[in-house]
Amino acid sequence: MAQRDWDSGLYDRFGDERQRAAADLLAAISGHAFSRITDLGCGSGLSTALLARRWPEAAITAIDTSADMLAKAHERQPGPRYLQGNIAEFNPETPQDLLFANASLHWLGDHDRLMPQLLCGLNPGGVLALQMPDNLDEPSHRLMDDVAREQPFAEAIGTAPPRRHELLTPEAYYDALIPHCASINLWRTRYLHRLPNVDAIADWFASTGLKPYLDALPDSQRTAFRSRYVQRLADCYGVRADGSVLLAMPRLFIVATTRPRTTTTGALTP
Ligand SMILES: C[S@@+](CC[C@H](N)C(=O)[O-])C[C@H]1O[C@@H](n2cnc3c(N)ncnc32)[C@H](O)[C@@H]1O
Repeated sequence: MAQRDWDSGLYDRFGDERQRAAADLLAAISGHAFSRITDLGCGSGLSTALLARRWPEAAITAIDTSADMLAKAHERQPGPRYLQGNIAEFNPETPQDLLFANASLHWLGDHDRLMPQLLCGLNPGGVLALQMPDNLDEPSHRLMDDVAREQPFAEAIGTAPPRRHELLTPEAYYDALIPHCASINLWRTRYLHRLPNVDAIADWFASTGLKPYLDALPDSQRTAFRSRYVQRLADCYGVRADGSVLLAMPRLFIVATTRPRTTTTGALTP
């Protein structure tokens, strides 16, 4: 089935909520001075704009696979260098001081190998700061799989639903990164986003988690899949006293700092 490009308009519908995690990640590193920054998976530029505002003097590069997202990012935040490319092949010409990856690395697999590989793109004392949704066990995602197993969708989707990759455990990320790092700061936050109704949950994920499922279906079944998904969501997400629903979004954060350069005398330099 034809895979559709990411849709920056849909993604930005919940821009304020999505930006909260990026802002929390940025807050954890905002005391640093960075000259060279790459935003890995910049999307529509929400994260790039935060970086440009905090480090206006820095040389910022932003990469993404999606042409639509890059066009939107450029419109939102002119100034950084925007490149179409795959994070899996990231290999900067010049080592960077900060690699910022907000809500992008969960779309790639093989994290045991990817995480140390990303550190190779950093200067000594450089920082890899990343945040990934850790929500595959939430009803929002389990229900995508459930609906995918129902007919007529199962026929098009097949027996293995197009789930994104499972994250490693926080301990496994620590073990993969610590041999190359001076320090690692990990934390997990469970946001509770107030949305007007369950239909908005489907809208939220239409540009992200639901996308691989919709991509696997013929055009003629996409609306029916979404309707069935909304019907199932209504069983799990209770309506609050004001008519809204609360979408739980657990997210894993990692800030890994590589070792500073050592001089021949063994002294540390930044
Ligand atoms: C959920 S958006 C996050 C965007 C942005 N960082 C933000 O904070 O709003 C994820 C982005 O990662 C991009 N992406 C997914 N896999 C990628 C890959 N392998 N290489 C580069 N970009 C990728 C998608 O195109 C999408 O724009």
